[in-house]
Amino acid sequence: MEDYRRLLLNNRAWVQDRLQVRPDFFEVSAAEQRPDYLWIGCSDSRVPAEEVTGTQPGELFVHRNIANMVVHTDFNMLSVLQFAVEILQVKHVIVCGHYGCGGVKTAMGRKSLGLINKWLCHIKDVYRFHAEELDGIGDVGTRTDRLVELNAVEQVQHLADISFVQRAWQRHQRPMLHGWIYDIRTGTLKELVRINPGEHPHDIYEYEFEE
Ligand code: CO
Repeated sequence: MEDYRRLLLNNRAWVQDRLQVRPDFFEVSAAEQRPDYLWIGCSDSRVPAEEVTGTQPGELFVHRNIANMVVHTDFNMLSVLQFAVEILQVKHVIVCGHYGCGGVKTAMGRKSLGLINKWLCHIKDVYRFHAEELDGIGDVGTRTDRLVELNAVEQVQHLADISFVQRAWQRHQRPMLHGWIYDIRTGTLKELVRINPGEHPHDIYEYEFEE
């Protein structure tokens, strides 16, 4: 059997499992989605959002990219975020970084990789903001872990800078923004930072709305 066929067979088994637990599972699922959470995570195959959070289909709205970035010119991320915040009106947006992140490791190096340099440059910027602390960490592994944390915090702050997030805060008093880290060595999640509706990392990012 070709290895990819295993995935299709798994799917058949999964459908049967679901139906056994709840015969109307797919009818309910097909009707609508009302997730309370938007998950912005890394594309890394070892960090499956639903699995590590024990959530079911319908609970998480998900966006994943290399190194869980919130880049202000990324229309893909922005479209997902705007839909989540304005239409789904999610209660929480979670940016989840992870130790051992290949994107962060690569950003710490000097190798030129073409197009991906542009993406990783945003992580290099985070390094520069915290260069004093990071340069002071002798062990490369520890330094990388710290950059993983600082990067997740920075991306959460980027969420708070976005005008339609601030507008949603004003209108619905949600979402709350979270920065988490997943430890691929232990499987555990930890909280790094939480931003309540209305809090700004700095006044310079605060917008005034006419209404
Ligand atoms: Co990663």
